[in-house]
Amino acid sequence: MGKMTGKVALISGGAEGIGAATAKLIIAEGGSVMLGDLQIDKANGLAAQLGTQAAAVLLDVRDRDAWEAAVAATVERFGKLTVLCNIAGISEPGNVVDGTLDVWERTIDINLNGPYYGCRAALPVMEASGEPCSIVNIGSMIALRAAAFVAAYSASKAGLVGLTRSIALDCAARGVPVRANMVHPGAIRTPMYDRYKYSGADTPENIESNFAATHPMNRIGEPEEVARAVVFLASDEASFTTGCDFTVDGGGSIRS
Ligand SMILES: NC(=O)c1ccc[n+]([C@@H]2O[C@H](COP(=O)([O-])OP(=O)(O)OC[C@H]3O[C@@H](n4cnc5c(N)ncnc54)[C@H](O)[C@@H]3O)[C@@H](O)[C@H]2O)c1
Repeated sequence: MGKMTGKVALISGGAEGIGAATAKLIIAEGGSVMLGDLQIDKANGLAAQLGTQAAAVLLDVRDRDAWEAAVAATVERFGKLTVLCNIAGISEPGNVVDGTLDVWERTIDINLNGPYYGCRAALPVMEASGEPCSIVNIGSMIALRAAAFVAAYSASKAGLVGLTRSIALDCAARGVPVRANMVHPGAIRTPMYDRYKYSGADTPENIESNFAATHPMNRIGEPEEVARAVVFLASDEASFTTGCDFTVDGGGSIRS
C-alpha cells in the first residue's frame, strides 16, 4: 500500500513542472489525480501516460466557475476529493515603480486569487467526504525573504502564506479534518526556470551559477524533490502538521 492509497487529488498546474512531478508521485504512491491546467492537451497527454487513475480538466485558476467545474469533475470521476494541490503559478519581473500594473494584476490573480478560489470550491466537498483531507499550497523561498525585482511575486506568495495559515486555523477550530500547509521551493529545474535560463537575460551558464549561488547547497533543485514534500504533507503521514512552511530550497530562505 502506498502512502496515497485512497486519496484523490486535484492539482492545479498539473500539466508540467512541479505539478506534473507531484501527479506522477501521487500515482506511484497509489492515489488518483485530476490534472487541472490551461494547457489541456499537455495535461491530457500526461493523464493518458499515467493510466486510469489520472484524468485532466481544463482549468484557468482565475476562473471561479472553472474551479467549481474542476472539483465536480474530480468527484464525478473518482468519487470524492481529499487533496488539493495549488501549484499553478507565474513569475514575472518588475519592481513597484518600473513593473507594469498588468504584471501585478496577473500575478495576484493567478498566484493568490487562484488558490483562494480553489480552496473555496474544494473545502465544502472535502469536508463532506468525512475523510482526512489536505491542502498543499506552493509558495516560494521568496515568500519568506522577498526579492527586490519581483514585487508582485513576493507579495502573492507571502499572501498565500497568510491564506494557508488562516485555513489551517479555521479547520482546526471547527474540528474539520482538513490540514493546510505550504511548500516553499527554491529555484527548481522546470519549464518556468528554463524560460528564464534561456531568455537571453544572461548566458544560461551564468544564470544557472547565479541561481545556484543563492542556495547554500549551491545547486538548483529538481521537481521530484519538491513533489516528495508535497506528497508527504498531502498524506496521512503528516497527520499532526497544519499551517506549516516546509522549505525545499537548499537552505535558500535561511541564508545570511
Ligand atoms: N520553478 C521554480 O524555480 C519555482 C521556485 C519557487 C516556486 N515555484 C512555484 O512552483 C509552482 C510551479 O512552478 P513550475 O516551475 O512548475 O512552473 P511551470 O511554469 O513549469 O508550470 C506551471 C504550470 O501551471 C500552469 N498554469 C499557469 N497559469 C495557469 C492558470 N492561470 N491556470 C491553470 N494553470 C496554469 C501552466 O500551464 C503549467 O502547466 C508555481 O506556483 C511557482 O511559483 C517555482
